[in-house]
Amino acid sequence: MRRKLVAGNWKMNLHWNEAMSLVSDLVKNEKDWNCDVLICPPSPYVRHTFEFLKNAKSAISVGAQDCASSTDGAFTGEISAGMLSSIGSSFVLVGHSERREYQGERGETLTKKLQHSIGAGIQPIFCCGEKLDERQSNNHFDVVQTQLEEALFAMSNEEISKCTIAYEPVWAIGTGETASPEQAQEMHSFIRDQVATKYGDDVASRIRILYGGSVNAGNAKELFGQQDIDGGLVGGASLKIDSFLQIIQSA
Ligand code: 13P
Repeated sequence: MRRKLVAGNWKMNLHWNEAMSLVSDLVKNEKDWNCDVLICPPSPYVRHTFEFLKNAKSAISVGAQDCASSTDGAFTGEISAGMLSSIGSSFVLVGHSERREYQGERGETLTKKLQHSIGAGIQPIFCCGEKLDERQSNNHFDVVQTQLEEALFAMSNEEISKCTIAYEPVWAIGTGETASPEQAQEMHSFIRDQVATKYGDDVASRIRILYGGSVNAGNAKELFGQQDIDGGLVGGASLKIDSFLQIIQSA
């Protein structure tokens, strides 16, 4: 049985005081939830968030939104997976659609990020998902399959067992338009089948596949109730304590 994971991706939002007040509210409301909970604040906040959660004996994990595709060296502005690990990050998002779009990330770059994060002891959450025109032209399965094959499927059997997948259709991110539970389930089941073909049924049955794209307090329960949806990667609704708590409680 896969335990669900609800992850908040804050993206480039919240200044320091706002961020710390949100973490503190989350901890104050922490219960014995039915899912794992992760927050991915901007990188400069990771260390303090980790310390705060540790001191509060919280079960909430902290992760980063990206890592470098190299381990160290002359890469101004980059942050390596090893550095993130050393400041308490236990997860990292890899290949988020916003990085694919604005930083042109794909293929080998993402493979390196996945491998470096696993090497540093961080669990990567590999993001994939099609754009609107790709869905409208009925190419969404091919697009997602290519994204998996050109990066995630370079992982070994041992490495893949440390990965989580997030299906985030680009047309649903920040738009208020969510994939229907049926559309999401159909793609999650397709992704699991691809994993099974490459790595076997055992690996496929254990890997977590999160849904992301306008998850909110109103739609989370139905989405999370689908057979192959193992939680959510939440953007906007993770920035408000009430909505994020309701989403966590829907898992
Ligand atoms: P929204 O929940 O704001 O649509 O963002 C989803 C997302 O991109 C999470 O990584």
